[in-house]
Amino acid sequence: MCGIVGAVSSRNIVPVLVQGLQRLEYRGYDSCGVAIHRAAVVGGAVAPAGVGLQRARSTARVAELQTQVTQDQLAAGTGIAHTRWATHGAPAVHNAHPHFSHGPGADAASRPARVALVHNGIIENHDELRAELQAKGYVFDSQTDTEVIAHLVDALYDGDIFQAVRTARSRLHGAYAIAVFHKDEPQRMVGARQGSPLIMGVGEGGGEHFLASDAMALAGVTDQIVYLAEGDVVDVQLGRYWIEDTNGQTLTPAQRPVKTVQAHSGAAELGPYRHYMQKEIFEQPRAFGDTLEGIEGIAPELFDGQGEQPAAAWRVFKEIDNVLILACGTSYYSGCTAKYWLEEIAGIPTQVEVASEYRYRTSVPNPKTLVVTISQSGETADTLAALRHAQSLGMQHTLTICNVATSAMVRECALAYITRAGVEIGVASTKAFTTQLAGLFLLTLALAQAKGRLSADDEARHLKAMRHLPVALQAVLALEPQLIQWAEQFAQKDNALFLGRGLHYPIALEGALKLKEISYIHAEAYPAGELKHGPLALVTSAMPVVVVAPNDALLEKLKSNMQEVRARGGVLYVLADADSHISASEGIHVIRLPEHYGTLSPILHVVPLQLLAYHTALAKGTDVDKPRNLAKSVTVE
Ligand code: F6R
Repeated sequence: MCGIVGAVSSRNIVPVLVQGLQRLEYRGYDSCGVAIHRAAVVGGAVAPAGVGLQRARSTARVAELQTQVTQDQLAAGTGIAHTRWATHGAPAVHNAHPHFSHGPGADAASRPARVALVHNGIIENHDELRAELQAKGYVFDSQTDTEVIAHLVDALYDGDIFQAVRTARSRLHGAYAIAVFHKDEPQRMVGARQGSPLIMGVGEGGGEHFLASDAMALAGVTDQIVYLAEGDVVDVQLGRYWIEDTNGQTLTPAQRPVKTVQAHSGAAELGPYRHYMQKEIFEQPRAFGDTLEGIEGIAPELFDGQGEQPAAAWRVFKEIDNVLILACGTSYYSGCTAKYWLEEIAGIPTQVEVASEYRYRTSVPNPKTLVVTISQSGETADTLAALRHAQSLGMQHTLTICNVATSAMVRECALAYITRAGVEIGVASTKAFTTQLAGLFLLTLALAQAKGRLSADDEARHLKAMRHLPVALQAVLALEPQLIQWAEQFAQKDNALFLGRGLHYPIALEGALKLKEISYIHAEAYPAGELKHGPLALVTSAMPVVVVAPNDALLEKLKSNMQEVRARGGVLYVLADADSHISASEGIHVIRLPEHYGTLSPILHVVPLQLLAYHTALAKGTDVDKPRNLAKSVTVE
């Protein structure tokens, strides 16, 4: 993952870099750093030779880096900055970016730095390159794969940083987005991307230029954005830039157009909430309402493409005869829920695959497949790679359900549905999940319509139920005090089991994921019928068992499964609904959702599970919005 931001300007760029890092912290927050070229003095001039590179790095958050930057009086017109999610080497200052190369030789560190570089991605042949560079006398200060690129660029440098990066690129295997500058060219920065996102921003009057992992990092600085494509190398200078593609062809502005992008700053106010996660849970009625706004009826046009090769949804929906959903994590669970809808309501055979597995297995492609990717960020490396893999197998009917309209996922899919969750800052996904479910339910209805399986009455009934959901969600949120009581008990536990059946099994999976990722309590989810095939052995009085138990066709079976747990002393925490008829008794805690919601009830039942995870984490004192080892956007494999 990691976030990159860089600039070449005539003004002091350090505040822009630090602010950009703050907005990129969602990509990783193990460490952060900034490097400047002191010769690129504010005002656009270049200082006399001898003034060199300087950096500040920290394993604390960007706010701490800001203090360091102020103390060290870092100010310059050229700089790069980075926020890290560790892949190679522990989160420590010596592994934090930017990395410097001082050139070869045992005494190199005593000489001024020559190259400063930041990187997002993974260099797969870093061992081989490290050995080669060590043989040339380069000494390594870190365990990172990134330092290899810094030294490689240094070794290839012959007075032109653009040429050095171009040549270095041909030696790198893996995924990368980089930004780099050299001590001998103070007002120049070069960026390159292959498998990791990188954009260029054009500042006021075209004088200053920026590089960043996404447009959000530059919100308020510039909305003039160029999306770099795979293999592009960009040369960024004061007042000019040019881009070469992977074949070394210089690109025209028409080939890489400057787009006006309204990026949200992401620096949303917390308002009365303690954490973004809590705020985002409570935003769900609004987010769900926004996602449905303007929808008068079900029509394939809702899914028309917005990307590079857009298609008309009605034509695609007529042609396809099955659905393949590709996603990761929480987005994968929304796909698992949608499978039940797509098969039951639209009658379309549906497969759901974890993107990181699909891309590497031999599968049987069918050109009549609608490939659906689901992603909050639209930048998840595994999901993008799975999409490209499906396309390479000849499956061209692609659709994404995505929360970021400007993302690679939307650009690369022929069809799209943009959820309107708004910026999601908490690492644990909440409102993105429920709005994905909204998009997937609309997709189900649109496909059912295309296949002649949606009567006007059914359409009206489903839409009415969806439109009432914001009110129903509000009523579920009002259950928070009861969930706080449950959370106090969960905070004392080491393990938890989550059970669901049918449509609600993916909701149990999502509940377990939420609990483990933010409270660090080990949690597993099972379809309740599977209990007796193994996991029942875990059940003792120390094991809380959460049961998602709306009144559906499997409720009676689920009640038998609950008896199996009680008979072994397990303590049940049941999320029932208005019609479930389950009462609290010894060892059985019940929270009753006010309404019974049938097909759409997963959208309601996930909310108490989000609140349970949130309040358990709060009771345990973990970092709710930035749980350890995780990042919001997973742009590495
Ligand atoms: C968990 C969570 C992750 C993401 C996953 C996919 O709370 O947020 O599991 O769902 O990393 O991310 P997107 O949806 O951005 O592709």
